[in-house]
Amino acid sequence: MRVRLEVEDLAAGYGEELVIDGLSFSVEGPGLLQILGPNGSGKTTLLRALLGLLRPVRGRVLVNGEDITGRPEEASAYVGYVPQHFAPERHYPITVWELITNSYMFHKRRWPRLDLDGGCREAARKALEVVDLPPDTWHRSLWELSGGQRQRALIARALVHDPPILMMDEPLSPVDPVGRYELAEHIGKLASSKLVLVTSHDPTLFLPYTKAILLLNRSFYIMGEPDEVLTLDNLTKVYGSSAIAIKDHVHICDSCR
Ligand SMILES: Nc1ncnc2c1ncn2[C@@H]1O[C@H](COP(=O)(O)OP(=O)(O)OP(=O)(O)O)[C@@H](O)[C@H]1O
Ligand SMILES: [Mg+2]
Repeated sequence: MRVRLEVEDLAAGYGEELVIDGLSFSVEGPGLLQILGPNGSGKTTLLRALLGLLRPVRGRVLVNGEDITGRPEEASAYVGYVPQHFAPERHYPITVWELITNSYMFHKRRWPRLDLDGGCREAARKALEVVDLPPDTWHRSLWELSGGQRQRALIARALVHDPPILMMDEPLSPVDPVGRYELAEHIGKLASSKLVLVTSHDPTLFLPYTKAILLLNRSFYIMGEPDEVLTLDNLTKVYGSSAIAIKDHVHICDSCR
């Protein structure tokens, strides 16, 4: 599904404080855009501003030329979102199946013009199969699942109305090392038919599927193809001395001396 996301001179923050200021880029899908940056650099703020969940102070967000700036309802027709933290109503008794089908019905009621063919059950089944969540978990409470299984359910929820864009905020963080490879591969496959934006702290797992990287540290940013962006010079600008070169590769390490 071809789709174009344009961001023009975006500024967003909290109260008087701007976290992002003067950010402009455009990206076409399908493909995967990684958003990298240290803690507090504004990755979540950016996604929330793109989705209109946080109203930008300045600038515009356009999808296929339609202005969705500060309009979360319009944005939700185009974008499926996996938030970084999901615990709004902890232990609220909802099964995986209910979570996914409720999301489908929500979008169908709100956006009858969306082409949600195939029906609710079929769409839910397809979304759960895409993320490889085994059928024996579908009718269990969301809170009985492991963190990694719950993350897959949340991705299925974002997928069920078949939006052309997916935004996932650190989708691999609750997942164990083996599961991360598998999930990164699933997300990579999704990027062959959708525009996928993922934030992450480790660019390597998504690298085989990545068409562009946005390296962000508040109002400072660099965007381009992975080889252009992932240089020691650029990473040092954003991560300081945590960016190191080992042989021909650059790394971002947890602690460096
Ligand atoms: N609801 C809020 N109210 C006030 N300030 C906030 C709020 N959310 C985030 N901030 C601040 O905005 C800045 C950017 O935070 P943000 O969550 O966007 O960073 P991030 O890059 O997603 O970090 P992480 O890697 O830890 O998820 C931080 O200084 C943070 O303290
Ligand atoms: Mg974040």
